[in-house]
Amino acid sequence: MLKKLEEILKTFRKEIKDAKDKKSHEELKRKYASRDSALVEISRDLKDLDPDQKREFGIKINEVRTEVFSALNELEDALKYEELKKQLEKEKIDISLQGMTFKRGSKHPLNLVIDEISDIFTELGYEMVSGTEFESDEYCFQKLNMPIGHPARDMQDTFYVDEKNVLRTHCTNMTARRLTQLSKMNVEEKSIASISYGNVYRRDDDDATHSHQFMQIDGFAVGKKINFATLKWTLEYMCKRLFSPKTKIRLRPSFFPFTEPSCEVDISCVNCSGSGCKVCKNTGWIEILGSGMIAPEVIEQNGLDSNEVGGLAFGIGVERVAMLKFGINNIRDFYENDIRFLEQFKFFGD
Ligand code: DAH
Repeated sequence: MLKKLEEILKTFRKEIKDAKDKKSHEELKRKYASRDSALVEISRDLKDLDPDQKREFGIKINEVRTEVFSALNELEDALKYEELKKQLEKEKIDISLQGMTFKRGSKHPLNLVIDEISDIFTELGYEMVSGTEFESDEYCFQKLNMPIGHPARDMQDTFYVDEKNVLRTHCTNMTARRLTQLSKMNVEEKSIASISYGNVYRRDDDDATHSHQFMQIDGFAVGKKINFATLKWTLEYMCKRLFSPKTKIRLRPSFFPFTEPSCEVDISCVNCSGSGCKVCKNTGWIEILGSGMIAPEVIEQNGLDSNEVGGLAFGIGVERVAMLKFGINNIRDFYENDIRFLEQFKFFGD
């Protein structure tokens, strides 16, 4: 019997040496470590031995079993390790490869200016309204004191869509729209303060500072107690917040068909603070917006009583403000979507 056991061990040692894969490991497990393995088989013969032989054989068989089990475990571990190694080799990550970078967008400089100006005015109690770029001749011109034939609405300046409609030439169309709406509202006191922004279109010659499409912010306030001082304070407050607390403003008489009196507003030069430089063409001042007191005719043309209410109005070129604020020389930079240009504004705004 001992001899038989030796035989089993000998063949096991040989077989495990040759076993190189999972399948042969399984086979060996079944042959030497299962319930009907040769080792279990031989143990059954124990009962026929006398006590001394039984002990001797028992010890031997235990030794053989221990050897068999640990060899099988070792083989299993080795096979698993090999498999893992192969898998890792296949999935090897080359950490020297350049990673993917995800670019964060930034706010467009024109939006930064719009956001800032709308913050200023909404804090002052103005409502923000949106309008359409496709506008009727009536709201773009007629209700703003520009009857048919008025030079300011000359064919040369305006893109006509058809006889009655245009691409708006200014955002002041929203002043006419809101005033007309106000005149129809059933309220005790007719008062309103409103700003709107958006694209406007003109058949201007394109050059470094002019484009046939640009953006404006237009605002107005109408009520009983609005006077020229309110206008001046409002514009000064806005310019100081927009540029610097040291910014000064200068009002120059001007003409707009829908305001009376009208004025052009200059700010002290953002570059030289007024001493004279290239940016301000040595004048110390930079023209920034148009404004005035809403003309009584306009109040009336939109259904309100000019003896009851008066109003202030202003219109700002968004590109112009952005060019001054950020030192941009060419208006086309805003529209070319050059990532290198846009990325510079990453750190502005919220
Ligand atoms: N609408 C004028 C323009 O486009 C700008 C303007 C001037 C708007 C005076 C106003 C204003 O509201 O009061 O040139």
